[in-house]
Amino acid sequence: MILIKLGGSVITDKSQYKKFDREQASRLCREIAESGKPTIVVHGAGSFGHVLAKKYSIQNGLEDREQIPAAAQVHHDAMELGMLMTQTLIDNGIPAASVAPGSCFVMEDGRIVPDNLEAIKALQDVGIMPVTFGDVVMDRTRGFGIVSGDQMMEVMADLYKPERVVFVSDIDGLYTANPKTDPDAELIPEFDAGTLDDISSESDVDDVTGGVRNKMEAMLRMCDEGRDCVLVNGTVPGRLLALLKGEDVTCTVARM
Ligand code: IPE
Repeated sequence: MILIKLGGSVITDKSQYKKFDREQASRLCREIAESGKPTIVVHGAGSFGHVLAKKYSIQNGLEDREQIPAAAQVHHDAMELGMLMTQTLIDNGIPAASVAPGSCFVMEDGRIVPDNLEAIKALQDVGIMPVTFGDVVMDRTRGFGIVSGDQMMEVMADLYKPERVVFVSDIDGLYTANPKTDPDAELIPEFDAGTLDDISSESDVDDVTGGVRNKMEAMLRMCDEGRDCVLVNGTVPGRLLALLKGEDVTCTVARM
């Protein structure tokens, strides 16, 4: 099984509150279907999550009653994107069900812990893809918090032991510096824990769950004996499909 995260940057327009990129999301789901590989999709929240979550610091937990309506709204918006994504998967021939992370996990001081996994496991057992996503989740100590799609990827990798993990984003891979601001930035085709030390921690990704470096650290944590983690550009048509089919494509591969 291949575990795939469709980042918020490829399924939404991150600069506009709640703007679903239907065309791109649909093409990516089509590429996943066309690959014929067993997959599980996790997705980010993009502009359905980050805009409001950031404004009300939902990731810090409950500090102020003014955050409460915003937390409810962010959860609602993330679920709405979940619905749009599962409809897109179903339309492309992949039976899928959106599973809000809060229905099977809780948090304890920012750490995700399983609550009741029976339903999510049962979906997979009957051949319906359980699709989880970045969302607001209740936290036993902080009231609530944000679980990112990347954190859900780690949880899903623990549950389903994929042979490969793929992060689909809007960049070709990991760069030595920010390619949008530094003309000398070079793509790193492969990295391990050692390489990460040389990489700038600056990031232009303005989101509440951390930037590129955090994603790379999460990728390294998800590498396992014989399991690579790949970061690939989903805005280039056909690239995800080629990667899933085992072809060599422009990307960054994290190895143990
Ligand atoms: C963010 O999830 C969750 C919320 C802000 C509700 P992610 O951090 O995984 O989303 P993207 O992929 O960066 O958009």
